[in-house]
Amino acid sequence: MHRFEGKVVLVTGGNRNTGLDLTEKFVREGAKVFMCGSSEESTARGAAALKARGLDGFTAQACDISDASQVAALMDTIEREARRLDILVNNAANQGIGHGGPLEMDPELFWDVLKTNVVGGFRVTQLACNRFFMKQESRGVVVFLSSNTAMRAIRHRTAYCTSKGAINSMVRALALDLAPLGIRVNCCAPGYIYTERWETLDPAKAARRRLNCPLRHEAKGSDIANVVAFLASDDSANMTGEIVTCDAGCSCQHMPEDVDV
Ligand SMILES: NC(=O)c1ccc[n+]([C@@H]2O[C@H](COP(=O)([O-])OP(=O)(O)OC[C@H]3O[C@@H](n4cnc5c(N)ncnc54)[C@H](OP(=O)(O)O)[C@@H]3O)[C@@H](O)[C@H]2O)c1
Repeated sequence: MHRFEGKVVLVTGGNRNTGLDLTEKFVREGAKVFMCGSSEESTARGAAALKARGLDGFTAQACDISDASQVAALMDTIEREARRLDILVNNAANQGIGHGGPLEMDPELFWDVLKTNVVGGFRVTQLACNRFFMKQESRGVVVFLSSNTAMRAIRHRTAYCTSKGAINSMVRALALDLAPLGIRVNCCAPGYIYTERWETLDPAKAARRRLNCPLRHEAKGSDIANVVAFLASDDSANMTGEIVTCDAGCSCQHMPEDVDV
């Protein structure tokens, strides 16, 4: 028996990198999965990638989660095709890369990051609760993807770090308000994850990043999917409002080994 047999899951940003591995995990464990990228093109590419991995049992529909009408349309599709939703994985993220430092960055770009990562995640969660979880006896589970950068900032990513800190706080606030209603809200906070971006990384830089990790390697998408699946499953039935870090030990060290004094 698969862990998520009969369950319906929505993975936002489930079309590439970590999101693709999240979608794969839930499909392989028996769920019917809905996934979205932000555009028709990126979502179709994701669907093709999943098919190339030998998967079906998923529905792909483009949805820019910063756009209320597109989120409503995605919920309509879930209603029509599955009539329920059990698990929401808020994975989609605007990485806010290339915005420059805080003195020169355009505040509109800052707002774009928050609009997707914080307001978008909230909007999808609110609709999932109102349209599905609150109408179902078995309610539902929400898992957010945050980042260890919520606690330990990285350079020139002010908006991204801010958004991930806000997600951590939002997870605790949502968990508190939704616990009496039977809805759990938890979060996985990854550190380095191997994505397509690593393929263009200077090997010396990749090696240096690995040296930053006490475990000496970044996460694979499947490592993150394992944590998310745990938080989405009954194995974590007594957990809500938790931020579970998965970062190869980065957060527990003061300095990487080569600069330690
Ligand atoms: N990679 C890391 O090292 C790392 C570290 C810590 C935390 N995380 C977190 O882990 C999660 C996955 O990371 P990742 O690196 O795999 O992400 P990624 O490669 O940057 O992919 C982001 C995903 O979010 C989607 N997305 C962006 N804006 C969207 C919008 N407005 N509406 C709908 N979808 C949108 C993208 O869709 P498109 O394809 O359409 O752009 C894409 O599928 C994210 O929450 C990230 O912040 C990642």
